[in-house]
Amino acid sequence: MTNPIFRKEDVLVEALPFIQQFEGKTFVIKYGGAIMTDENLKSMIAQDVTLLRKIGINIVIVHGGGKEITSLAEKLNIESKFVNGQRYTDESMRDIVQMVLAGLINKDIVRRINIHGGRAVGISGIDANLITVNNINKELGLVGEVTDVNSSFIKNLLNDGYLPVIAPIGINSDGVINNVNADLAAGPIAASINAEKLVYITDTDGVKVNNETISHLTESESKKLIEQKIISGGMIPKVESALAAIDAGVQKVHIINGNVEHALLLEIFTKEGVGTEIVNE
Ligand SMILES: Nc1ncnc2c1ncn2[C@@H]1O[C@H](COP(=O)(O)OP(=O)(O)OP(=O)(O)O)[C@@H](O)[C@H]1O
Ligand SMILES: [Mg+2]
Repeated sequence: MTNPIFRKEDVLVEALPFIQQFEGKTFVIKYGGAIMTDENLKSMIAQDVTLLRKIGINIVIVHGGGKEITSLAEKLNIESKFVNGQRYTDESMRDIVQMVLAGLINKDIVRRINIHGGRAVGISGIDANLITVNNINKELGLVGEVTDVNSSFIKNLLNDGYLPVIAPIGINSDGVINNVNADLAAGPIAASINAEKLVYITDTDGVKVNNETISHLTESESKKLIEQKIISGGMIPKVESALAAIDAGVQKVHIINGNVEHALLLEIFTKEGVGTEIVNE
């Protein structure tokens, strides 16, 4: 880590070329449920995304909610099970997922952003058929894989100056609501609107190998780490979705730690950046 910068004017000047570079571009931010515990941090993330929007970057948020889903399920005596980092979802779990994601969490994020004038609009993958899915992986139950994204709906909201906040649930061809892993939704959403960046905000500094954060990862290195099971659990869908998004034209994917204050601003506006970046080889 370099020495902290104390002069406010230096910080602003360092940010200028990045502001120029990203004005008018679109960032998709996956806001992990794992970091939605601290009130102060939640408000800071809302501030950070609002600031990015206000300097002319189009922001789309896709959020998770793993911890809160597990905690409501526990209260209702329903057990949480995971298969390769993804939640097994039967009908009662699906209802909990829908209540927590599209209800509680989505509106809390919207509320916090709008306190700062961020013009957030909360929608779920069901609204305007935003996320359509099919159920390929029966092992996971009612968990859908994204087959289509209504990108023009997102673009319309962005063009009108709104900041879409998306709860990751989707509708299948039978009209049944499915849970969608937020990481796996964020990738196709980013690809469908030609996002410049996809940023995963989670509860760890980035992809770690032997306890050290890897600052730069290519596609082949990522695949090797998944095979070796060094990347496991909740990191698998992030990296897999990142690789697919990059193949589909997203320039860069970042994985950063939301427990670090203003990590998002540090990543976007400083030369050093933070966390792990995944790029095309
Ligand atoms: N190689 C790795 N490097 C870093 N984290 C890893 C690695 N392998 C597995 N993980 C796990 O992935 C977790 C992050 O994914 P997790 O699904 O828990 O959070 P999230 O996606 O931010 O939240 P949510 O799923 O609620 O949206 C880390 O806390 C860590 O336990
Ligand atoms: Mg996760």
